[in-house]
Amino acid sequence: MSELHTPHAGDDHAKDDDVVALLMRQHGDIRNLFDEVEATEGEERRDAFRRLVRLLAVHETAEEEVVHPFARKGFPGGDQVVKDRLTEEKAAKETLSALDGMDTDDPAFMPELLKLRKDVQEHARAEERYEFTHIRRSTDAAGLAAMAKAIKAAEAMAPTRPHPGVESGAKNMALGPVAALMDRTKDAVHKAMGKG
Ligand SMILES: [Fe+2]
Ligand SMILES: [Fe+2]
Repeated sequence: MSELHTPHAGDDHAKDDDVVALLMRQHGDIRNLFDEVEATEGEERRDAFRRLVRLLAVHETAEEEVVHPFARKGFPGGDQVVKDRLTEEKAAKETLSALDGMDTDDPAFMPELLKLRKDVQEHARAEERYEFTHIRRSTDAAGLAAMAKAIKAAEAMAPTRPHPGVESGAKNMALGPVAALMDRTKDAVHKAMGKG
């Protein structure tokens, strides 16, 4: 029984209304994608890595736009908690940018990936412990649901499953660089939050 690992994107179960449950599920998806990149090679690794980069970019952007601004004012000490998380996110994004242009078969790739994984894991753990628990305690159901809606709008841009077939490669390429993806994620999030 694992309601947190529902493979059907269209499923509308109760957890979808809880922004913390959604973000923690994404932390799990990110862990799984790191596993997948490490366990594969060649074309498969390239595809898994593309999905990992997309999910990370979308996840961190959505957190920055949705939960960090809330946490900053939402509970005592929130301002400092968010400051610390943003420092971690900045470091992870720098490693991510360095990796983004790299060939996944490059001998330098794996050491960089493992560095990124360590940074991302520590960051996710700190979020769950110092930020998410407080958000859940200090937000009513309507607030959690409103934030969840924005996170889901962002998530639509980061498919985590493999794309079989050749056309998928072209499709991934057409999506463009990470910075553009982050911009589009911001737009989608603002729209879902009713900020146009
Ligand atoms: Fe984050
Ligand atoms: Fe996170």
